[in-house]
Amino acid sequence: MAGSASAATMIAPRLHALAAESEEPTGPIAANDHLQIALIGAGGQGQYDTGVALQVPGVKVVAVADCYDGRLKHCKEMWGDDLLTTRDYREILARKDIDAVIIGTPDHWHKQASVDAMNAGKDVYCEKPMIHLYSDGPEMIETSRKTGRILEIGSQRVSSVLYAKAKELLAAGAIGKLNMVTAHWDRNSSMGAWNYTIPPDASPETCDWPRFEGTARHIPFNAGHFFRWRKWKAYGSGVAGDLFVHLFSGTHFVTNTKGPTRGMATGGLRFWHDGRDVPDVMLALFDYAEGFNLNLRVNFVDGGAENEGLLFTGSEGTIEIGGNAVTLSSVPREKEPGLTVGTFPLAMQKEIEAAYAKKYPRTHFKGEPPAGYERYVVPDGYSDSYDHLRNFFASVRSRKPVVEDAVFGYRAAGAALLSNLSYERGTVVHWDPEAMKLL
Ligand SMILES: NC(=O)c1ccc[n+]([C@@H]2O[C@H](COP(=O)([O-])OP(=O)(O)OC[C@H]3O[C@@H](n4cnc5c(N)ncnc54)[C@H](O)[C@@H]3O)[C@@H](O)[C@H]2O)c1
Repeated sequence: MAGSASAATMIAPRLHALAAESEEPTGPIAANDHLQIALIGAGGQGQYDTGVALQVPGVKVVAVADCYDGRLKHCKEMWGDDLLTTRDYREILARKDIDAVIIGTPDHWHKQASVDAMNAGKDVYCEKPMIHLYSDGPEMIETSRKTGRILEIGSQRVSSVLYAKAKELLAAGAIGKLNMVTAHWDRNSSMGAWNYTIPPDASPETCDWPRFEGTARHIPFNAGHFFRWRKWKAYGSGVAGDLFVHLFSGTHFVTNTKGPTRGMATGGLRFWHDGRDVPDVMLALFDYAEGFNLNLRVNFVDGGAENEGLLFTGSEGTIEIGGNAVTLSSVPREKEPGLTVGTFPLAMQKEIEAAYAKKYPRTHFKGEPPAGYERYVVPDGYSDSYDHLRNFFASVRSRKPVVEDAVFGYRAAGAALLSNLSYERGTVVHWDPEAMKLL
């Protein structure tokens, strides 16, 4: 009955506080038992990840590589003059006293820096998206396997207690059979559209442009490309690699799937006509063999409120992840089929209604509305990045698998980049999620 829907949605949800994952009892860490780490790519995310890593007990940063001198200087300001700073990460990889590296370079360096680090005996926390080109995936997986090094990809939502709760609810049947996942990430700001601040001293002297370029097609030094690289395919992967990949990681983690079988995307460059070669609006649809569809959207020109969220829709309810909460809503399906008789002759209407009333006698709503509107909220100050890095360092110590290994990372990034392929080709693209291959 329509009445039951409004009864369920008008009531306030039952609130539940989610506990942050409890720290494993490590006991005091001996002075000689610190993990020594280095950072490769010390921009916004690299500096942030390292700051979070240093909150994990028993982690020390001893070296940083970056292509911009100003960032190397700032790392010394934060982590001390003893820090080794260099433009050439090979200097870091040669040091035997470094256990693990965090890689926060632009996407086009993820594969090479990870492979070089693993071959040098280091465990690796590499930022998302794991790949820039499809050929990166198998090489990174194989190098991790061959060297026995841990490779964790930095989509922190995979370690979030929110996503863990959503996964638990879905597995427990709270929303019945999943048929659709709808996720979006909308922004409406210059910063949101990747126009990060360019430092006034940016120049070929302070920026190691040839090193930054790596295998990208050579062009003369360009501060815009250096500091706002996401806007060009040569270094970044568009909104798909930057943001869809988080939505894929979350979806794959919650649903336990290996990935879509086909995808199609559309969109365009609608507003940020500033020389970028990637769209600022993208919509994409994916089929999953498990029997659900994924529907993704990024809109950098959303005059409404900036927001991000995922909605899992099942036959018996929905699970929404947004902000600091997971919300479960479930509205019981109407038990009566209902009638549409008003266009029939009056005598017939009466006859049908009488038969219906006999079959479905009127009942009065009694008691509480049915359970099914629950909200699980994370504690104040909760950080999924902390949980993700803690998981990484726990694996570095225990040698047990990480939550987001190279196979998971490739399945998420490989799926995300289907969007770019489809957008460029104007066709549906097919993917084998088991074998992780384009078809
Ligand atoms: N997990 C998240 O939520 C999240 C958030 C933001 C960014 N990221 C990812 O982090 C990565 C970095 O993004 P960002 O915003 O920090 O970019 P950024 O431009 O702020 O920093 C990248 C840094 O890498 C350096 N670099 C480039 N090539 C290098 C090389 N060969 N050796 C050493 N340093 C090199 C550059 O000099 C630059 O300082 C991206 O892959 C991005 O997708 C993840």
